[in-house]
Amino acid sequence: MILPSLTSITLLALTGILAQAKPTSNLRTWDEAYAKAEQVVSKMSIEQKVGLTTGMGWGITNCVGNTYASEDPDFPSLCLQDGPLGTRYASNATAGVSGINAAATFDRNLMYKRAEVIGKESRGKGVHIQLGPSVDMLRAPNGGRGWEGFGEDPYLQGVAGAEFVKGVQDQNLVATAKHYVLNNQETNRTTSNSDVDDRTLREIYVWPYARMVEAGIGSVMCSYNYYEDVHICENDYMLNTVLKKELSFRGFVMSDWGATHSTAPSANGGLDMTMPGDINYGDGLSYFGPNLTKAVENGEVTEERLTDMATRIAAAHFKVGQDKDYPETTLRSFDRQNEPEVIVTSDDHINFVREIGAASLILLTNDGILPLSSKDFGKIAIVGSDAAPPSVECTDLACNDGTYVQGWGSGTVDFPYIISPTEGITNRAGDSVKVVHTYDDWDTEAAAELASDADIAFVFAKTEAGEEYLMVDGNNDRKNLTLWNNGDNLIQAVADANENTVVVIHSVGPVLMPWIAHKNIKAVVWPGLPGQETGNSLADVLFGDVNPSGRLPYTIAKKEEDYGAHISAEYNIEYGEKLNVGYRHFDANDIEPLFAFGYGLSYSTFDYGKLKVNTKRGKRDTLATATVFVRNTGDVDGAEVAQAYISFPESAGEPPKVLRGFERVYLKAGQQRKVNFEFTETDLSIYDEESSCWVVPEGEYTVSIGASSRDIRESATFEL
Ligand SMILES: *[C@@H]1O[C@H](CO)[C@@H](O)[C@H](O)[C@H]1NC(C)=O
Ligand SMILES: *[C@@H]1O[C@H](CO)[C@@H](O)[C@H](O)[C@H]1NC(C)=O
Ligand SMILES: *[C@@H]1O[C@H](CO)[C@@H](O)[C@H](O)[C@H]1NC(C)=O
Ligand SMILES: *[C@@H]1O[C@H](CO)[C@@H](O)[C@H](O)[C@H]1NC(C)=O
Repeated sequence: MILPSLTSITLLALTGILAQAKPTSNLRTWDEAYAKAEQVVSKMSIEQKVGLTTGMGWGITNCVGNTYASEDPDFPSLCLQDGPLGTRYASNATAGVSGINAAATFDRNLMYKRAEVIGKESRGKGVHIQLGPSVDMLRAPNGGRGWEGFGEDPYLQGVAGAEFVKGVQDQNLVATAKHYVLNNQETNRTTSNSDVDDRTLREIYVWPYARMVEAGIGSVMCSYNYYEDVHICENDYMLNTVLKKELSFRGFVMSDWGATHSTAPSANGGLDMTMPGDINYGDGLSYFGPNLTKAVENGEVTEERLTDMATRIAAAHFKVGQDKDYPETTLRSFDRQNEPEVIVTSDDHINFVREIGAASLILLTNDGILPLSSKDFGKIAIVGSDAAPPSVECTDLACNDGTYVQGWGSGTVDFPYIISPTEGITNRAGDSVKVVHTYDDWDTEAAAELASDADIAFVFAKTEAGEEYLMVDGNNDRKNLTLWNNGDNLIQAVADANENTVVVIHSVGPVLMPWIAHKNIKAVVWPGLPGQETGNSLADVLFGDVNPSGRLPYTIAKKEEDYGAHISAEYNIEYGEKLNVGYRHFDANDIEPLFAFGYGLSYSTFDYGKLKVNTKRGKRDTLATATVFVRNTGDVDGAEVAQAYISFPESAGEPPKVLRGFERVYLKAGQQRKVNFEFTETDLSIYDEESSCWVVPEGEYTVSIGASSRDIRESATFEL
């Protein structure tokens, strides 16, 4: 393939040709990658090795982070770019669904394809290191960055994280798992100490990293917070003992932006790269750079350790095959006017965003009003600013205007356009249907009047959240679980006025629903954060072109007090709920949720039957298998998400049940299929604090298969 040299970039700009972003199959094993890395690094001087480990500084390079290039031996300046949703600060790219929506699909293929699209586009822009996925657990329901990751369950985070790694790295980019570790709230994120026991640390918070290391991830980003009063980015226990030794992680550790606080303690504590390099943004100083060279020369850091740092970085680069036919970096993150026009988006990518937007939509209630047949409705009313096209452009999407499609912060991408819900519904409804709207959230009288005169009323509401360095209306973690912009009153007013009311909520996480029992609310639709095709994805489901199959990746409680964990403003954040994160807490304490983890409706119905469990040792380290038959008993084709929960022997001290498998199966009306689950040694292990080992407890296990964590259809026991 042709490298886009400067001249060909100009050509691309003139002709608008698509960037040639084909992956090459240069992927290597770690051993092969290390062999190549050692060859190069062994020829490097101390300064050259230091250059690999040091960012050039904030705001002055093409990417949000760049390392120093080396000459003789040659090694490129690596371009590090956000983020977990797509390519940040890039034109002519696609803005897809958030991580939380990828989780809501409960579909490995869609998770992989989403990452593949992200990888293709970033590669096309010459990014070497993609700063995602985020696997920060949604520990408290209002955590500000929970939407970037995959919800409240470690198994789901692990599967989704690993698919992200494979999808991105198959496109020759290094994926970066973040934020390692225990970075579960924005409040005081740089000044708080996460206090967790060894078992919970591994079974909940390190678990997803273990799955990503197995998937071959090249880099891990250490987080801002402290653990045992030591910054994570110089925490010998977290970086050297847990990540590099226990997990056998062979890639490199980079700091979160500005999370490095020292030279020798960081290098010796396991940090391999400091980002964006400077001590304070723009000061031109660094804890690494000349400081690290000096530390090696005076023996505070051994040269062996420096060589290890550089080798890990180079090995990740070679592992994903960036040394052949790699596009030049054409991003101009801080000089957008001069960004060459390299088009990495495509119709395929846009169609995929629409598809995964619909596949991640969760139907919470439906008395049969959905799917709509446009014949039945002559007039549709749309109420709420959350249905409107956003009109304001603001830094990293921290605004409260128009429909909500992703949270704010470094995890955002620019939107080339947004198909608003109103546009999507209007286009799909066709000319014979009259669509009227009001976007004033505060004039409930006008909303009621508009709704009263329509055959069906859609009322839209939202919540927002995002990263700590920005605030919207006093939030980064959400201050409360209430809908924004007068949402509850608006919904109440519309429902009072129209007996065919459908509520649509775009939210970063769970909300309270005081109006849920209103007799006129005939359906509640939860599209999450669906990206640039939001209106089309929504219309696809509302009108029945797509049968919904999204499932909640978190619990929606009846009241905030029902949750097991909350944002803490203390220095010491106690993870007192231990293993009972999310639905596990609701199960352990017999609290009925409003909508359970794993829940979501379909336009069809599904039966489960003939569960069989087998403990014959299977291939690899499988200890037990289960099969169950799922049948589509309705008249609409569609997908069902069969979920497998494991209850450990009583003596194990585990929560009542934990997710250990899921399969999204597509079934034509009347069709039946056998669904297989395999439970590996990992799936059936617990971390034993006394021996500091993972063990498979002896005794009776129960496998429960169902349509949500609270809708178990079949269960069986087995002994190990
Ligand atoms: C590429 O992006 C730029 C900046 O947003 C825009 O002006 C231009 O129209 C885009 N090109 C194409 C072909 O869409
Ligand atoms: C080295 O690090 C110290 C802080 O430990 C800082 O004050 C100093 O400016 C750094 N030097 C350089 C050249 O960046
Ligand atoms: C919850 O927070 C939102 C957003 O800041 C605010 O608009 C709303 O008034 C708050 N609700 C309550 C009940 O405090
Ligand atoms: C944590 O945040 C709260 C609220 O923003 C603030 O009042 C408190 O001082 C912070 N505590 C620490 C240890 O930073």
